[in-house]
Formats: sequence, C-alpha cells, structure tokens
Amino acid sequence: MMTNMQTVPIFIVSLFVHFSLTIARDTITLATPLADGETLVSAGGSFVLGFFTPANSHNRYVGLWFNQISVQTILWVANRQHPVPDTTGTLKLTSDGNLIITNQNSTIFWSSATSSVTTPVAKLLGNGNLVVREANAITNGSFAWQSFDHPTDSLLPGMKLGVDLRTGLNRNLTAWKSESDPSPGDYVMSMDILGDPQLTAWAGTARKWRSGSWNGEAFTGMPEMKTFHEFNFHFFNTKDEIYYSYETTDKSIITRMVMNHTGATQLFVWLDGSVWLGGSDGWGLFWYAPKTKCNGFSLCGSYGFCSIYTSQMLA
Ligand SMILES: *[C@@H]1O[C@H](CO)[C@@H](O)[C@H](O)[C@H]1NC(C)=O
Ligand SMILES: *[C@@H]1O[C@H](CO)[C@@H](O)[C@H](O)[C@H]1NC(C)=O
Ligand SMILES: *[C@@H]1O[C@H](CO)[C@@H](O)[C@H](O)[C@H]1NC(C)=O
Ligand SMILES: *[C@@H]1O[C@H](CO)[C@@H](O)[C@H](O)[C@H]1NC(C)=O
Repeated sequence: MMTNMQTVPIFIVSLFVHFSLTIARDTITLATPLADGETLVSAGGSFVLGFFTPANSHNRYVGLWFNQISVQTILWVANRQHPVPDTTGTLKLTSDGNLIITNQNSTIFWSSATSSVTTPVAKLLGNGNLVVREANAITNGSFAWQSFDHPTDSLLPGMKLGVDLRTGLNRNLTAWKSESDPSPGDYVMSMDILGDPQLTAWAGTARKWRSGSWNGEAFTGMPEMKTFHEFNFHFFNTKDEIYYSYETTDKSIITRMVMNHTGATQLFVWLDGSVWLGGSDGWGLFWYAPKTKCNGFSLCGSYGFCSIYTSQMLA
C-alpha cells in the first residue's frame, strides 16, 4: 500500500519534468518565430519572454518576466510605444537579422534595428538578455543587438546603467507612463556624466534626485549600499564607458531595480514565505530613492549638504 502511494506521485513528477523540458525553448530562428501565446524560457529557467497584457489594458506587448515567481513582474518591454491591439502578433527575425513584431497584415509594431547579420538567431540568455547574433559565431559577449542595451524601467543584475562614450549609447531606465501603459513616462534614471558622474533621477528636464559621486564602495548619497552583503555594486568610469551595475553573490536571489511610474527608484528582492511579509511570498523593498525631502535635488541645491538619516538640510 505504502509503496504504491509513493510510486504514483514520482511517476507524475517525472512525466511533468519531461513535458516541460520538451516545450521550453530559448531561441527564435527564421523558421521558428514566436507567436502570441508561445514563450521563450532562458537556459536555467529564470526568465520568460512572450506576449503579455498589462493590468486594465487589452493591448499586447512583448515582454520579459521572471519564470519562478507567482507575480508576473515585467522587466523589459520591446514594443512599449506601439502595442499590438489583438492576439495576432508575432515576434520574428527577418533574413537580415532584424527582430520585429508584426501581425498577419504585416504591420510592423517594433523593430530592433539590428545591423546586418548573415545567419541570424535570437536567443534569450540565462541572465535575461535577449540577443541577436550570427548562428554559428563563437560569441564572447558581442552581439548584433541585445535588449540589455535598451532597458525599459528595470535593471537586472549584470545590466549596465550608463553611457558608452565610443558609440554614444545611453542606457537609462525610463518609467512606464502608468500601471497599464508601458510607454515612456516622465521619470528617467540615468548616468549624468557632466561633472562627477552620478546616477540622476529626472522628472522631465528637472533633476529630482542624485546619488552623489562614487567613493570606491558606494555612492555618497546611498550609504546603505555598503550594508547589503548579498550585493556587489560596481561603478565603472573609464574613457570608453561610464556605468553602474550590480550583481548578487548568491545567484539564486531574484532581484530588480526599477524606476517606478510615480518617480521613485526601488531595489526589490523576491522573498518566499518571508516573516517580513507575514509569511507570504512577495517583493521585499530593500532600498528606494528619493527617500526624504533631503534627497530632492532642488531642496538641497548644489552647495547644500544633506543627511539622509536626519532628513535635515544642513547649510
Ligand atoms: C488586418 O486584416 C484583417 C483581415 O485580414 C482585417 O479584418 C483587419 O481590419 C486588418 N487590420 C488592419 C489594422 O489593417
Ligand atoms: C572576443 O572579444 C574581443 C574583444 O572585443 C575581440 O577582439 C575578439 O575577436 C572576440 N573573439 C571572438 C571569438 O569573438
Ligand atoms: C535616456 O536614453 C534615451 C535613449 O538613449 C535618450 O534619448 C534620453 O535622452 C535619455 N534620457 C536621459 C535623461 O538621459
Ligand atoms: C514608487 O516607489 C515609492 C517608494 O518606494 C513608493 O512609495 C510608491 O508607491 C511607488 N509607486 C508605485 C506606482 O509603485
């Protein structure tokens, strides 16, 4: 009796594992576009790419989200300004290596604008980067196109927030317009390279917050960074590139930094059954900015000194 009861679930589990291994794919080729309803799953299983509909919307967008958590959290959106109005969209490669979103009428909703590739493939990498490259190239991190160069509102571990001075590429985080509209809103987090390079949050053309300059360990306006032992924060400032990025020491940590649509930047970590969240699963907020009146740029002015601990503006 006991033996039978134990055998049955194991059989079911092995069937399920076999089934999910068979359907998961991480690649788009000329012959295998991605239709609405299909998904790519990254090697290792952390990320999913497919069509989604935001809350209170009927529009369809191609986006990236975490695979292993219960709340669909959109990390990147391809066609953020041009939604597909129905479920007839397809993400596909053209023969010269452009990744496009089109429908049965051949309307093009989005294009990666990739420079020419002879035998293109698009692949969702294990870190959440969607790349286009030559099918047979031995690649060491150089791609014809990569989504990590075109962030939406979120920074994942390994992504760069900043400027490539050789190409002029400016990777910033631009908030969604609203919860139901991923098109670019007013709030931007970018690397300001005039003067001492630092992260700067903008509301339109107004500076809203700045990180302070890098002291070798942390941004001076973000002293809490030093206390996050699971995170490694990096700041690169060379003649070629100026950027910020971060990674986790434990690769199983699920985390994201986001410029939210009400103008704050937040660093989240996914918590499973956490006491912090009353025993349930959810996003734990590790850090956010602006935090106090003090962090608001205009309140401090260029010569003001602010203490974030006391929220006081010191002369
Ligand atoms: C696309 O084609 C379908 C039928 O082929 C038609 O009903 C629909 O109006 C077309 N949509 C656009 C936006 O042209
Ligand atoms: C690897 O990267 C270096 C520097 O970007 C480049 O010169 C080299 O050709 C690359 N190797 C391959 C096999 O792609
Ligand atoms: C954000 O990046 C876009 C695209 O590179 C650029 O046009 C825009 O000026 C940037 N905004 C800021 C505030 O850096
Ligand atoms: C944006 O972040 C701030 C700070 O954590 C928070 O108070 C606010 O509710 C967030 N807005 C949204 C839309 O999540």
